[in-house]
Amino acid sequence: MAKVPVQFTLNGEEKAEFVDSGATLLKVVRDKLGDTSPKSGCNQGTCGACSVLVDGELRLSCLTLAETCEGAHIVTTGGLAKDGVLHPLQRAFMDEFAAQCGFCTPGMIMAAKALLDRTPDPSRDEVVEALSGNICRCTGYEPIIRAVLTAARANSQNAA
Ligand code: FES
Ligand code: FES
Repeated sequence: MAKVPVQFTLNGEEKAEFVDSGATLLKVVRDKLGDTSPKSGCNQGTCGACSVLVDGELRLSCLTLAETCEGAHIVTTGGLAKDGVLHPLQRAFMDEFAAQCGFCTPGMIMAAKALLDRTPDPSRDEVVEALSGNICRCTGYEPIIRAVLTAARANSQNAA
């Protein structure tokens, strides 16, 4: 298979790789770059487990070709904690018991981050809408919604 060069940042670190032409961003991030935080669920764009931010936009990494990410800034849940301190969303997911098996959690957190980055004080309906592309088989969704609202409150208190 033909290899193509691609450069981007992953959680702030410069990456320069030769990737298989047609390889998904999910496969490159997990298998080549060793960041297993985006999960491989359905691999066809229906579960949201692979969600990442590409230049601040929420993207399904299983449907994104790595070679289209030239020059992009990619963020995964693996890059959210700073100096050993959890991101407010990660903290809120813990505090609100918003994960059971945890498989959906990285995608949920990235979808929630995309929401809070553009809408810091969302309504419950906005949270539900923002998470509508992410499937959870375990929690019944209520703790997840609570966690996102809790993180939004924590963010606004920190900003005050
Ligand atoms: S693994 Fe990408 S949407 Fe399910
Ligand atoms: S916590 Fe298990 S799929 Fe969501």
